[in-house]
Amino acid sequence: MLNLGILISGRGSNMESILKAIKKKKIPINPAIVISNKPDAKGLKIAQKIGVPVEIVESKGFKGTRAEYDKKIISTLTKYGVTPRNGLVCLAGFMRIISPEFVKKYKNRIINIHPALLPAFPGLDSQKQALEYGSKVSGCTVHFVDTGMDTGPVIIQATVKINEKDTEESLSKKILKEEHRIYPEAVNLFARKKIRVSGRKTIIG
Ligand code: GRF
Repeated sequence: MLNLGILISGRGSNMESILKAIKKKKIPINPAIVISNKPDAKGLKIAQKIGVPVEIVESKGFKGTRAEYDKKIISTLTKYGVTPRNGLVCLAGFMRIISPEFVKKYKNRIINIHPALLPAFPGLDSQKQALEYGSKVSGCTVHFVDTGMDTGPVIIQATVKINEKDTEESLSKKILKEEHRIYPEAVNLFARKKIRVSGRKTIIG
């Protein structure tokens, strides 16, 4: 069976939705490890409660390069069987840019969730960007991670409507609900080997 590693930095609600779906929906993947770059990430306690091992690879104060930090992440993933041959890495609110070395080593095996309809509003504060732009819809995107910023092949997207009364908070809440639906779905598709990458596109099924 595939081994799953989830990287977090904070709240961990997407991580929680994935871990719960694995149990409930019998997704054929072993939740091997949750890694946080921050020792106080709330998600760590949630993972422990669910019974998944956790590790902290602290990034604050780390003196080396991005690639050197990622080497530490890779060796932790490897320790738990999340390898380029037999692993899937989910970024779930992991607030760090991944080095090209890491991306290349785990080619098409690292996925991320972004709270906008990519390629619109990449980077930070996507919900705020969508509101300020005056968009009528936004949503979320699960995509493979490549060496660009939120540019990898799209796996699943979901839309939400934006109305005049929406605030950053209300829009984020609506989008998060969809995130919790589509991220586990993408993990399920990956675990069942139903995603094929062809250039910029993914073929599902
Ligand atoms: C989510 O909005 C996700 O789309 C973005 O960061 C946030 C993480 O939230 N990448 P959580 O830690 O999963 O609750």
